This record gives sequence, structure tokens and C-alpha cells, in this order.
Amino acid sequence: MPDLHSQRGNSPADAIVLVGGKGTRLRPLTLSAPKPMLPTAGVPFLSHLLSRIKAAGLTHVILGTSYQPEVFEKYFGDGSAIGLELEYVVEAEPLDTAGAIRNVADRLRSDDAVIFNGDILSGTDPRALLGSHRDAGADVTLHLVKVADPARFGSVPTDEAGRVTAFLEKSPNPPTDQINAGCYVFRRNVIEAIPAGRPVSVERETFPGLLGAGAHLHGFVDAAYWLDVGTPAAFVQGSADLVRGIAPTGALPGPVGERLVLAGATVAADAVVDGGSVIGAGAKVLPGATVTSSVLFDGVHVEPGAVVTNSVLGKGVRVGAGAVLRGAVLGDGVSVGADCELIDGARVWPEVRLPDGGIRFSPGT
Ligand code: GTP
Repeated sequence: MPDLHSQRGNSPADAIVLVGGKGTRLRPLTLSAPKPMLPTAGVPFLSHLLSRIKAAGLTHVILGTSYQPEVFEKYFGDGSAIGLELEYVVEAEPLDTAGAIRNVADRLRSDDAVIFNGDILSGTDPRALLGSHRDAGADVTLHLVKVADPARFGSVPTDEAGRVTAFLEKSPNPPTDQINAGCYVFRRNVIEAIPAGRPVSVERETFPGLLGAGAHLHGFVDAAYWLDVGTPAAFVQGSADLVRGIAPTGALPGPVGERLVLAGATVAADAVVDGGSVIGAGAKVLPGATVTSSVLFDGVHVEPGAVVTNSVLGKGVRVGAGAVLRGAVLGDGVSVGADCELIDGARVWPEVRLPDGGIRFSPGT
């Protein structure tokens, strides 16, 4: 008996990846690169997503770009180096999520498109999503994920057949723990019916509109790894999960382990680097320093005895001796003076120089 489910998921579909957002929650890192291009476990975040798309057998991939659009093509080109056929469609003005999907309609070749938010790390197999969509005969299928804290999100209840029954706003006691996971299958005719040439939100306008008009919206729920890397804390976690092999990828530039040290980086023998940290190319971690669950972009210097935890350090950052960074985000070229302390949520803009002992959260000795 043939496996119809996987066969249905295996026949052709286009992939659309939405990468045009400004990534404001990750500023100042996203001042110098769009969020999907930020170095994550040693390569641009998007490389991990594209590796999953390729592994699922989807080869025609359209990137909907808007913010810093040229950076994507410069890095990935026509996609042949990674076994994909990549196309880029630029929005002169950001068209929001559904507007961006509509904007690529003339590039579609298949009856279905699998659509990915460009900032989601996921273990879900796009083939299973596509197979579920085709089995259900739906107009749109949404990947739904169960979360421990559904009150923080809008929720998406489904009936016993998996049909979406509502899109609910955030509320203190949501009736379901299922939320929109930012990955969908759309039939091509549904994409063509989205209004063209103006911003349209898939969550606020397209989905509620389709439901109200009686369209068949199907929910695909699974328990695979899932993380939206849109905030600094989530970004750090996503990178560490990739390095440690907790999040699946085909693009990790080294073996899975407690740390990833890129070409030309040096770590002193008595320095500690762990928790899935990445040490960028040419970076230096000097004696007695500790780097835990952090992302150090290329050329960062961590001086003796400094402690860096759950933080992201932009290109060329210097962390002075004995400084403590916990949950901090430092833009490119920042210099943190010796014995400074930057604690949870601190963001330092590019090229800022903090003098020795200039910012502390404790009285010191
Ligand atoms: P924040 O500003 O921090 O909320 O990040 P963001 O701009 O990425 O927004 P959000 O996380 O809500 O976006 C979800 C996905 O849609 C991301 O992959 C974005 O790149 C993408 N996206 C958001 N707005 C647009 C847009 O106007 N055009 C395109 N092409 N993509 C978009």
C-alpha cells in the first residue's frame, strides 16, 4: 500500500520565505543586517531554514524582501551553491506579511506554496505539513504549535477534524494552547485573491477574512522543536540549540557540541566556552574569561576574567577585563570597559565606548 500521506507531501510545491521585516526587537543588531542574515550558529539564520526547505525536497524558493534587500542576493546568489533555485522579489514599500505573499504570485509554478516566516527555527517537516494540507483538501493549512504560556499569544482553536474555528486575540484564559507557528500552505488561487499593491497582514486581515468567508482553513499540530527567534533572548537560545543539536539543521559549520569555534578564533586554555556558544571568526577569548550560551560575531575580543552569559556581541566588540555581561546585546564595534556590568536587557548601540567601571549594577569592591 503506498504511503499516500508522504506521496502527497512529495509532489511539487513552491516555497516562499518572508524576510522583509525590520527586526526592530533585535536592534541594534538589525541596524547592520536584516534579522534572517544575522550570524546564528556560525552562518546566517536563513541558511538553517533553507537547509530544512531543501531537505524537504522543495527546490524553488522565492524570497520576499524589503528591508536591506540586496544583502540576501549578495550572499545566496541564485542558490545553486546550496542546491536551490532562489528568486528575490523586492517590495519598494513593506507590504506586510500577506502583501508580501501576494507580491510573489507571478513567480509561482505549482498549485500550492509552503510559506515560511524567515525568523522561525522549526523541526517540523514541511512535507508533513503539505501532505496534511492535501489530505484535508484545505484552502490554507497553518502549522500550529502548542505552547506552555498561550496567554502571551493569539490562539487558534480547531475542531476534531482539524478545521480552524477561530482566530482569537491574546486573552488571560485562552481556550486552547495552540498558536500560529508562522508556517503555512496556501493554495495558489488563495494567494491570487489577496489584494495587491498595499500592505496586508496575514494574521489580522487574511486569515480572519478567509474564515468569515467560509474558506477551509486546516490546522496541522505537531510536537517538533519550534522557536521564534525574534527577541534577543530567543535569538541566543536558538543559536545555542543549533550548536548543541537540539534544533535540527543541515547548515551547522562544524560538529554538534557545547561550543562552535569558527576559523581563526582562539580560546585560551583556561577560558570556559560552553552552553552552545559561538565564537566568531578571528575572535579571541583570553585567559580566565567565561562565555556561556552566547553569540560572539567575528572579531570579538573577550579580555581576561570577563564573564559573558546569554548575550549577543556584534562584530569587533571588545569586552574589557573583569566585565560582566548577562543578557546584553552589543552592536558592532562597541567597547565595554574593564569591570563594567551590563545586565538583562541592556542594549548598546554600535561603536559606543563605555569607560572602565563606567556602568555597574553592583557597588563593586
Ligand atoms: P520585529 O520588528 O522585531 O517585530 O520583527 P519583524 O520585522 O521581522 O516582524 P515579524 O517578526 O512580525 O515578522 C514575521 C516575518 O515576516 C519575518 O520573517 C519578517 O521578515 C517578515 N515580514 C514582516 N513584515 C514584512 C514585510 O512587510 N515584507 C516582507 N517581505 N516580509 C515581512
